[in-house]
Amino acid sequence: MKFRVSEQIEKVGFPPITEVKGWVAGRPGNGPPLIDLCQAVPDYPPAPELLAYLKEQLDDPRTARYTPDEGLPEVRGAVCDRYRRRYAAKMEPDHLCLTVGASQAFWLAIMTLCRAGDEMILQAPCYFDHPMALEALKVRPVFAPFDESGKGLPNPEVIGRLITPRTRAILLVTPSNPTGTVIPPALLTELYLLARKHRIALVVDETYADFVAASPHELFTIPDWHGTLVQIMSFGKTYALTGFRAGLLAGSPEVVQHALKIQDTMVVCQPHLTQLALKFGVEHLDDWVEANRLLMDFRHNLFVNRFTQPGNRFRLAASGSFFAWVRHPFSHLNGRQVARRLVDEAGILCLPGEVFGPGLEGYLRLALGNLRENMIPETIRRFREMGGP
Ligand SMILES: Cc1ncc(COP(=O)(O)O)c(C=O)c1O
Repeated sequence: MKFRVSEQIEKVGFPPITEVKGWVAGRPGNGPPLIDLCQAVPDYPPAPELLAYLKEQLDDPRTARYTPDEGLPEVRGAVCDRYRRRYAAKMEPDHLCLTVGASQAFWLAIMTLCRAGDEMILQAPCYFDHPMALEALKVRPVFAPFDESGKGLPNPEVIGRLITPRTRAILLVTPSNPTGTVIPPALLTELYLLARKHRIALVVDETYADFVAASPHELFTIPDWHGTLVQIMSFGKTYALTGFRAGLLAGSPEVVQHALKIQDTMVVCQPHLTQLALKFGVEHLDDWVEANRLLMDFRHNLFVNRFTQPGNRFRLAASGSFFAWVRHPFSHLNGRQVARRLVDEAGILCLPGEVFGPGLEGYLRLALGNLRENMIPETIRRFREMGGP
């Protein structure tokens, strides 16, 4: 290469899923078939009626055109109705900007809220893309440490002590990736009030919210919720459309208007076809979503029940519908070394704990979205039989 890559970008780690999937190539050919617990993707297909509807829409040449930057008004209106149903939300379409996945919504949030040199507080273990994005934009991630006894729930006192004049936001993910832990509504309200007291934003990523039974929280019922709250949502897992890149940012009309400056230069708009899929989903698929929530819940409960039977040296530290966060038994090895051994010796692909924040080498993340019921006993057998010191 005859030019230099930005020194800032050189400092950012490479995407862990790409790294871990690369290990599979070196596996001995005679090993057991691979069980992929690496990426949090539902293994079931999108709803057939959704696909049939989209096929029709492809014949309409308007589907191939740009939409307004923030998304079609009728789509944002339909999404608002869903928020009113699920959260009793005080929400209007101008609170929403449709994005290219929750990933892009997070970039909009950081760039709208923070300058280079500012700080954002993250609860560890945290979704690896979050610190990667912050580092790329020279915003300092400040980690609230993982407390295993509290299953990784954020502690308002600990977070309060991390707030400095440089802090622009507290970021929470509920249900958590990687622990699956759901922040109870009352605790979330406490953290909202903490952020409001300090006049900083509370950014809540709810990518897995549709895998929780009840209304996830009451923040959207607060009349001026958007004075403090910025929500990031993905519909990729909700409707099994991860490749459609269906996300959004919800905040005050002012935040949305500023975010559109970035949106316009970054992507212009969420793909038109994705917007049509989203509208169809929020208008027709509540029952389908609920059936898949129950399916994931069933798999999770079965997995946890078997995994925690005596005789397994891997210990469940926390879990929730999509994830199990596991302490491995090899005190002299880090998570990467154990995850590699699991690939080579047990044919199990998962992520090492240290990609989710500092000091987490003793853990592994198992994503359960890909784990069908009939594979659960075999998966657990492989963990139990994993030998070595
Ligand atoms: C917590 C969290 N936020 C955001 C994302 C990205 O979502 P999207 O695919 O909509 O960009 C993921 C994906 O796994 C995630 O786990």
